[in-house]
Amino acid sequence: MRITDTSDLWWKTAVVYCLDVETFFDWDGDGTGDFAGLVQRVDYLAGLGITCLWLMPFYPTADRDDGYDITDFYGVDPRLGTHGDVVELVRTAQDRGIRVIVDLVVNHTSDKHPWFRSARSSKTSPYRDYYVWRSDTPPDTSAEVVFPDQEDSIWELDEKTGEYYLHRFYKHQPDLDVTNQAVRDEIAKVMGFWISLGISGFRVDAVPFLLQTDDMPEGADGFADPHAYLRYLRSFLGRRSADGIMLGEVNLPHPQQLEFFGGPDGDELTMQFDFIAMQNMYLSLARCDAAALVTALEQRPASSVSSQWATFVRNHDELTLDKLSDDERQEVFAAFGPQENMQVYGRGLVRRLPPMLAGDPRRIRMVYSLLFSLPGTPVLFYGEEIGMGENLDASGRMAVRTPMQWSSARNGGFSSAPPSRLAAPVVTGGFAPEHVNVAQQRQDPDSLLAFISMLVRRYRECPELGWSHFQVLDQPHAQVMAHLASWDDGSLVAVHNLGPEPRTVPLTLEGCEADHRLVDLLTVGEVAVDGAGRASVELDGYGYRWLRVTAPQSRRLL
Ligand code: NOJ
Repeated sequence: MRITDTSDLWWKTAVVYCLDVETFFDWDGDGTGDFAGLVQRVDYLAGLGITCLWLMPFYPTADRDDGYDITDFYGVDPRLGTHGDVVELVRTAQDRGIRVIVDLVVNHTSDKHPWFRSARSSKTSPYRDYYVWRSDTPPDTSAEVVFPDQEDSIWELDEKTGEYYLHRFYKHQPDLDVTNQAVRDEIAKVMGFWISLGISGFRVDAVPFLLQTDDMPEGADGFADPHAYLRYLRSFLGRRSADGIMLGEVNLPHPQQLEFFGGPDGDELTMQFDFIAMQNMYLSLARCDAAALVTALEQRPASSVSSQWATFVRNHDELTLDKLSDDERQEVFAAFGPQENMQVYGRGLVRRLPPMLAGDPRRIRMVYSLLFSLPGTPVLFYGEEIGMGENLDASGRMAVRTPMQWSSARNGGFSSAPPSRLAAPVVTGGFAPEHVNVAQQRQDPDSLLAFISMLVRRYRECPELGWSHFQVLDQPHAQVMAHLASWDDGSLVAVHNLGPEPRTVPLTLEGCEADHRLVDLLTVGEVAVDGAGRASVELDGYGYRWLRVTAPQSRRLL
């Protein structure tokens, strides 16, 4: 790779930051965050160093699934702002070097969407076939529902016409039928619309469900196959936006994820979240043993050079552990969420990382150091950079969707509205804004915010982390993970101690000689290398080091 490639394939070295406009910053004082508030905080995001902002749904909504139940794909929720405000945000962010991507939620609509209102009104509605209907009694599909606390079937009887409609999520979210050409035309039009407003791509919601056509009329309207359709969307995006991306939510085993990248051709999703590595990282943390994470990373299939994994510690949903075995899941539950109110759907946790780690600053920093050193593109969920906690009194996934904590002022500085009018209650207790907020941490060079900002900067300065092949280095400690990222002009060694005991980690680095040095990138320090490439790295309990392998003639930034 050349350094100039990093701007062509910008997503491979991006730092993505996900937020919900509704809970980020309220500028007009009505209790709900808004675009006017977000644009005021673009310089904060630029200071943090993020390069890509992912906006959770901001469209008009029936608001029964926190905005993922959309009533107009082309609109802006009037509580949050207008199209003008969106464009102002995108332009201001671009000026600060930040691209904006938006959630594309087209597996389903809200049942309040005008298409569905019309579709359910009569079997002859022009929108009837935008959705999936059946007249016979459906079989038991209780094992297929995504939200088992609310649903027991993926089919719902609609009294008016006496037929059942398909909904893979909540019953108020009827699935669109992508085998219908008219629906496919709409989806492309929606993408084209937002692209024309300057956004740089999409976080694509629920991709496997979007493409799942088992229950849909067969091969209708020239629908060849689901992956051909995904290829079509990618090429359409490419025609409308030279470097737009599709970052897909595909929580499937790695071999299936490879298919969603388009295999070796890489012509489907540009990026995918690595749910498998995330889940195994928690298992490794629970066990203080790196093996599960290492295995997950080593089993990632090779993909095309333009495809990329998105790595993360937390997202806006439950911290799903569905791909672990039952026993493994119970280990993580026992370590990080033993109480019933910390668990949801029998498969996930509703907590954020710092409370799960009992606020231990060494361990929290080690996890973020690990995240930024993994091969891939790191994605932060708002508030992670200051170590926000969750609200266990909120229902289910809402526990982590609390207002951003800007200061110790009322409502955490999020809004001037009375607390009873806030979009969501502010966190109380040890992680409340009095203790965890941006204003305090901005003044403190030792804060988590300062640390994460440094990680962002170092990650950006080390493009091999986003680009390189991942190589685990042999060393004797089960608690430790040591890995190497290389490119043409040198390499980087990252060493992480998942356990509480200090460790001395012997490493052998091929090609290194006595005139090489291992220079610390996260602190001031250095490790000597002998003539056989051997080095001995000291780690504190929960310690972490990034070491630049430096040859005498190296011109890499130190
Ligand atoms: C996936 C989203 O991440 C989640 O928040 C939402 O509830 C479902 N899709 C349904 O839209």
